[in-house]
Amino acid sequence: MFISHILLENYRNYASLDIDLSNDVNIFYGNNGQGKTNLLEAVFFTVIGKSFRGTKDSDIIMAGKNEFLIDISVNDDITENIFIKYNKNKEKYIKVNSLYLRKIGQLMGSLLAVVFSPEDMNLISEGPSVRRKFLDIAISQVKPTYYFDLLQYNKVLIQKNNLLKSVKYGKTKMYDGIFSVWNEQLASVGAKIISERCRIIEELSKVAIEKNMKIAKNSAEKEELLKISYNSDISREIILENDIEVIKREFFNLLEGKMQKEIEREMTLTGPHRDDLEFKLDDRDMKKFSSQGQKRTAILSLKLAELELLKKATGRKPIFLLDDVFSELDEKRQESFLNEIYDVQTFISCVDINSLKYNKKNARIFEIKNGSVVL
Ligand SMILES: Nc1ncnc2c1ncn2[C@@H]1O[C@H](COP(=O)(O)OP(=O)(O)O)[C@@H](O)[C@H]1O
Ligand SMILES: [Mg+2]
Repeated sequence: MFISHILLENYRNYASLDIDLSNDVNIFYGNNGQGKTNLLEAVFFTVIGKSFRGTKDSDIIMAGKNEFLIDISVNDDITENIFIKYNKNKEKYIKVNSLYLRKIGQLMGSLLAVVFSPEDMNLISEGPSVRRKFLDIAISQVKPTYYFDLLQYNKVLIQKNNLLKSVKYGKTKMYDGIFSVWNEQLASVGAKIISERCRIIEELSKVAIEKNMKIAKNSAEKEELLKISYNSDISREIILENDIEVIKREFFNLLEGKMQKEIEREMTLTGPHRDDLEFKLDDRDMKKFSSQGQKRTAILSLKLAELELLKKATGRKPIFLLDDVFSELDEKRQESFLNEIYDVQTFISCVDINSLKYNKKNARIFEIKNGSVVL
C-alpha cells in the first residue's frame, strides 16, 4: 500500500497542507521545529487514531482553532481513504472509505505502518511500558480484535483496583472470593493477550536475529546472537503450548495467590499490564551489559522485523515512517538499514539532507518550513 495524497487542516502548525506523494521514498527536510515530526505524526494518527507521541488530541488542534482534519488517499486493495476530524468538544469523526466508524478500534488495520523515531532509540533502556506499547501497536494492526481485548482488560483492571482500594480502607467489607469475579475476567481476557504477545515475539525475534547479524556485520561489530523474549509471571513453555484455558487457569491462580499483597499495594500485581520484553545479546541482558551501539543495532533490527511481520501477517506492504533517525546512525548502519527497506513506501525526515546517505534519485523531496512545504 502507499499514500498518494495527504491533506491536513489546523493540524498542529499546519494551517493547511495538500501534497502528492511518491510511492517510493519521500524526504522531508528542514530546521528544527518546522513541522517534520508533526507531518509523520499525522500520518500515523490514521493508523492508531491518536498521536504516537502520546499528545492529547486537544493539544493537536492548531492554537486558536476549533478542529483539525486529516484526510489521506491510499492506494491499496482494502483502504482507499481515511478521514479524521477532531473538534474542541472532544468529538472525533473517523471515516474509512467514506464510511463512518463507530469505534476507534475499527480503524486498526486500515493503514499499516511502522514508525521509528529518536525516542525509540531508548526502547531497551527505558521502563517496560514503552516496550508494551510497541508490542500492542504492532499486534493491533495485525489483529484488530486484540485492541478490543486490551480495552476490555484495562477496564476490568481499573474496576478491580478500585475495589482493592475500597477494601484496604474498609469501605468494602472483605469476604472470601471477593476478587474472584474480577480475577476471572482478567484471566479470561488476559490469557488471550499474553498468548498473542508471546506468539508475536517469537516471530519477531526470529527475524530480528538475522537483521541484527547483518547490520552488525556491515558495521564491523561483533556478530552476537540477539534474543528477544516475552517476560511474564507465567512460564514461556506454558504460554507457547497455546492452550488458552491453561494460561487462564495459571493466571487466575497467580492473581488469587497475591490477594493480600494486592490489597496492601492497592494494585493488581501480575498480568499483561506488568509484563515486559527482554533483550539479550549472547545470553546477556542488554539493558545491563550492552553498549549504546549494540542497543541501536538491536532496535533497528526490531523495527525491520516489525515491518516484515506486518507484511507476512497481512499480505500487504506497510508504510515506513522514519522520523529523524538517520542523524543518530553512522554511515554503515544507515546503509545496511536502507538496503532492507527498498520495497515499501518510506517517509524520511531529517534536518540536513546532504548528510543523508541515500540515493535520492527516486525520492520526492519536500522542504518544510514553519508548517508549509517550500515551493
Ligand atoms: N497545537 C499546535 N498549534 C500550533 N503549533 C503547534 C501545535 N503543536 C505543536 N506546534 C508547533 O509545531 C512545531 C514543532 O513541530 P515538529 O514537527 O515537532 O518539528 P520538527 O520539524 O523539528 O520535527 C513547534 O514550532 C510547535 O510550536
Ligand atoms: Mg522532529
